[in-house]
Amino acid sequence: MAINLLLGLQWGDEGKGKIVDVLTGDYDIIARFQGGPNAGHTLIFDGYKHVLHTIPSGIFHKTAVNVVGNGVVIDPVIFKRELDNLDKFDIDFTTKLLISRKAHLILPTHRLLDAASETSKGKAKIGSTLKGIGPTYMDKTGRNGLRVGDLEMENWEEKYKALTKKHIRMIDYYGVKLEYDIAELEEEFNEGVKRLKELTFIDSEEYLNNALKNGKSILAEGAQGSLLDVDFGTYPFVTSSNTTAAGACTGLGIAPNKIGDVFGIFKAYTTRVGSGPFPTELFDEDGATMAKVGHEFGATTGRPRRCGWLDLVALKYAAQVNGVTQLMMMKGDVLSGFDTLKVCTSYKYKGEEISHLPYNIEPENVTPIYSEFKGWQADLTQMTTKEELPQNLMEYISFIEKEVEVPIKIVSVGPDRKQTILR
Ligand code: GDP
Ligand code: IMO
Ligand code: MG
Repeated sequence: MAINLLLGLQWGDEGKGKIVDVLTGDYDIIARFQGGPNAGHTLIFDGYKHVLHTIPSGIFHKTAVNVVGNGVVIDPVIFKRELDNLDKFDIDFTTKLLISRKAHLILPTHRLLDAASETSKGKAKIGSTLKGIGPTYMDKTGRNGLRVGDLEMENWEEKYKALTKKHIRMIDYYGVKLEYDIAELEEEFNEGVKRLKELTFIDSEEYLNNALKNGKSILAEGAQGSLLDVDFGTYPFVTSSNTTAAGACTGLGIAPNKIGDVFGIFKAYTTRVGSGPFPTELFDEDGATMAKVGHEFGATTGRPRRCGWLDLVALKYAAQVNGVTQLMMMKGDVLSGFDTLKVCTSYKYKGEEISHLPYNIEPENVTPIYSEFKGWQADLTQMTTKEELPQNLMEYISFIEKEVEVPIKIVSVGPDRKQTILR
């Protein structure tokens, strides 16, 4: 049995949560492999909207087991809030939500360090979600981090105090003014830890590999997007984990030869939240229309998302780095009503036309070159079969498939679970 991966190919918020929820019926296990509560995965069904940050998006299906893998960073405070929000659903968390002992913990002081670092950068800030992601992964790779498994150890308090003390000295080093009450933050943290400890902690690599041996099907859920990958994204304006396919191997303890399909999710246009280069970004009416019709506000921070045309140079790059076998195109409905659509097919870079993503994609280095397409006027949101999709949309889809050399298997035409067309 193989494990399939589902990941975002742009700068996040492609609609991963929705599609994981749609696909969960086909899987025994859904496993998140990286990122933390910087993620906001939206699910809409039965007239309700749910935003998940750490909990995998298969949680609403009674049949699936959800695993938070070792590559994830967990903030017990946010985790408790997520669990509290789900209380009304009568989910047996002790059997349906399993937590890797090797997942790292976000401490209150990691959040403060994130804020101190961002403030000290001024205009050059990353635009982080301020959830403590960077500092927590820094402690992980710096071999100072605290993990879920440490909560079961007798010296937990001692370890916690030592790391927090160090962090407070580091916050002072930044020399920025931060208002905080550490006692209050710790009280909230301890409440979160108490709730977290009611769940089942597992050696997740063992659990997942045994599940595969026993013929169970697993879907690995990514967070963020490929262009936010710490190695392959628009560094330094990235997150601190490997959001690409390789991250699923290290984030779950699954060997590369166990990976089956890689589902790559992308929006029919492009969005980005936070700072950093974005070659096809629009500052005109068209961008404003995408933002308005697509309700482009961050699910975690509420910040407006920057919008622009689809960038095939970046999409091809992401498909290659991830070994994408199937594409899923989201939010096609948002483009209904445009007379003309543009798709970036190459860049002008230092006087030359190039079709790969160069080292530096800052606006002064890169000008997008576009192909134009006729738009479609029909409202897609009530459509349920591929035969109903307008001809001009089919041409848009065919062009993307030909360029990326990967078939588009799902066309999403609205945020609801049901607004999903299989091809
Ligand atoms: P994720 O982080 O990749 O899970 O994506 P987010 O949940 O942050 O952002 C995607 C947003 O688009 C959410 O508000 C979804 O409800 C919404 N959405 C998902 N698919 C579609 C779609 O096909 N059409 C429209 N209009 N909205 C969608
Ligand atoms: P999902 O899983 C969109 C962005 C932040 C910032 C940069 C670094 O919902 O797609 P961090 O807090 O990770 O240090 O922030 O990454 N970012 C996201 N943008 N979707 C996300 O997750 C994101 N997670 C982080 O805006 O630019
Ligand atoms: Mg999101």
